[in-house]
Amino acid sequence: MVAFMASSQPEWWKTAVVYQVYPRSFAESASAIGPTPGVGTLTGLTERLDYLAWLGVDALWLSPICRSPMADFGYDISDFCAVDPTFGTLADFDELLVQAHARGIRLILDWVPNHTSDQHEWFQESRRNRTNPKADWYVWRDEPANNWLASFPRGESAWEFDEARSQYYLRCFLREQPDLNWDNPQVEAAMHGTLRFWLDRGVDGFRMDVVHLLGKDLALDDPPICQEKVWGHVPYNDQPITHERLRRIRRVLDEYRDTDGRDRASVGEVYLLDEAAMADYYGDGDELHLSFNFKFLWAPFDPAELAIRIHATVALLAERGAWPTWVLSNHDVPRHRQRYGGGELEARMAAIMLLTLPGTPFMYQGEELGLVDADVPAERVVDPGLRDGCRAPIPWDSSDLHGWTADPWLPFPPEAEVRNVERQLGDSGSILHFYRRMLALRSSTPALQGGIGASEFQLLKGTPGLLAWARSDGSQMWFTYINPTSVPQGDRGEMEGATVVLSTDASLEGSVVSGALPARVAFVARRDGTM
Ligand code: GLC
Repeated sequence: MVAFMASSQPEWWKTAVVYQVYPRSFAESASAIGPTPGVGTLTGLTERLDYLAWLGVDALWLSPICRSPMADFGYDISDFCAVDPTFGTLADFDELLVQAHARGIRLILDWVPNHTSDQHEWFQESRRNRTNPKADWYVWRDEPANNWLASFPRGESAWEFDEARSQYYLRCFLREQPDLNWDNPQVEAAMHGTLRFWLDRGVDGFRMDVVHLLGKDLALDDPPICQEKVWGHVPYNDQPITHERLRRIRRVLDEYRDTDGRDRASVGEVYLLDEAAMADYYGDGDELHLSFNFKFLWAPFDPAELAIRIHATVALLAERGAWPTWVLSNHDVPRHRQRYGGGELEARMAAIMLLTLPGTPFMYQGEELGLVDADVPAERVVDPGLRDGCRAPIPWDSSDLHGWTADPWLPFPPEAEVRNVERQLGDSGSILHFYRRMLALRSSTPALQGGIGASEFQLLKGTPGLLAWARSDGSQMWFTYINPTSVPQGDRGEMEGATVVLSTDASLEGSVVSGALPARVAFVARRDGTM
């Protein structure tokens, strides 16, 4: 439907910076108040696109906007082909897409293929009896087939008894989220249909929810370690059949590319805390375009640990010609500024890390403001997975309601009276401006958009306490130096003579690297030459 930049950047997902929008908490419309004041809408997002264009992100990933009873705030979908009225209408969505594209911003949607809402008509039919046409669309058993635990609420069995059928159904998440039976080809075809619905409307791709769960071997019990984890679904679900299913999903996306030369991208939430297993989800360039990297996300802000994770990721992906992603925060985990100890300096260092690593960075709304999680008092907790803190609404201005029309569905993050968009826009030294400068530098610098080949990227071996790498486009060298410790670094020979272009310490910008390097600083520096 929407013509967009045709094939000028077929593999746009390699150079894009993707920004995750959690629509409930992003923005309300100033002109068209939605049905639930204090909850964000699609029109609210459309009205803030100029802010996102100013910031300099290239694509948005929207957490689910489909019709949903909201037991898991949209990850429980009751109609894959409708917009939930909380967020607006299909017409609002089409307008958002047109307006995003008009600003050169691509749009990817969250696709939730592992489960539906228990209110979805497929499940309503399936649970009616054991003989209806959709009887086998979900995973039904007379007895729990294994010891699996659901992710939410923690510790409950993943097998839920249903009175109507007098059988158990599998639900890896809430009891309101029955797992689809992907062994049934009709289910697979129907889910492909949901992809086509949004592709036909012009979306640029999908973030694919818990995509490693598409193949399951019910005969396998979980090992004891899984029984202790919040995200208990670890080894049983990494099955070979999942890869076949991903290849067929990829073919659906590629049909669209074949008509206009532009990729429809997929990024998988492969929640396997193992880089090698994650790397397999790229297949031979015929499965996911991109996969999230949770082992990196969970690493502490410690140079030695981060270097190990980066090295492992790059080594494994380079082998198969795959493209890394880097993500530090999302709607499921405490924000990274918080995880990294709470300091804004660490948040700025993390921005330099995220935006100069080779691969596709994913930002989470509000990280550009240096937000930490909201303190959510017990009586305001709404998420059965206890993830409310990172989902707090974006404070847009310094007024009492911070740009919202009513007290929002969750409390604001700390310091909203100063840590808001309006205030930071007016302060050129704010973390918001810092992100914007970093994004502008990245998009205007070919070396910072390159890949992970040995001539393009090298981690610099170092002294403990230092995380550093070099990137090259064949004529310029770019160095990233991140030293969160209080110990200065000795001579960094490789960087000698490079000019500091952007730094957490603005007084270093424009200076030439020479001799020992300072503590508690991160910078990006440039020099002519090759690796
Ligand atoms: C993914 C989502 C999370 C959701 C779960 C079940 O992990 O990111 O928010 O609760 O899947 O759909």
